[in-house]
Amino acid sequence: MTLPDTLVNQAQLEAAAQRLAGRILGPATFCLEGPLGAGKSTFARAFLRAFGVPGDIPSPTFTLVEVYDGYGPNGIDIWHVDAYRLISPQEAEPLGLIEAFDMALCLVEWPDKLGSLIPDDAMHIHIAHAEAADMRRLTLP
Ligand SMILES: Nc1ncnc2c1ncn2[C@@H]1O[C@H](COP(=O)(O)OP(=O)(O)O)[C@@H](O)[C@H]1O
Ligand SMILES: [Mg+2]
Repeated sequence: MTLPDTLVNQAQLEAAAQRLAGRILGPATFCLEGPLGAGKSTFARAFLRAFGVPGDIPSPTFTLVEVYDGYGPNGIDIWHVDAYRLISPQEAEPLGLIEAFDMALCLVEWPDKLGSLIPDDAMHIHIAHAEAADMRRLTLP
């Protein structure tokens, strides 16, 4: 089921990420969709902080993935993936992504770049720009 989008400022978007984090009990994949600057990494950082990840949370733009060992529910790993720079889904396979989708809690920016590697049961979060520069339209699963 997809809920209608909600108009949110940054604090509200971060609060939504925290609430979502609080509902997750095990491995799951969340696709973070939306254009450059929409707030995908902002959402991911709030989500990761909700699981206790400390400090400045880097963007995986250049590394493709940042793995937070054991920070997920019941001690599973959290993977923050940014597929923006991938040329083809095959490039991602050596990273161990397929296993991560089974075993870990995964947040994936630019999921379209991973094509059919994205599991069928992945959930989709969509962030769109709104008229006001500091507002976004957020659609949660
Ligand atoms: N309502 C909002 N929700 C999320 N981010 C916002 C909002 N308003 C302004 N911003 C800003 O937009 C930028 C989003 O950047 P980022 O999260 O890196 O986007 P993306 O990962 O989608 O490219 C940040 O600088 C953030 O402070
Ligand atoms: Mg980003």
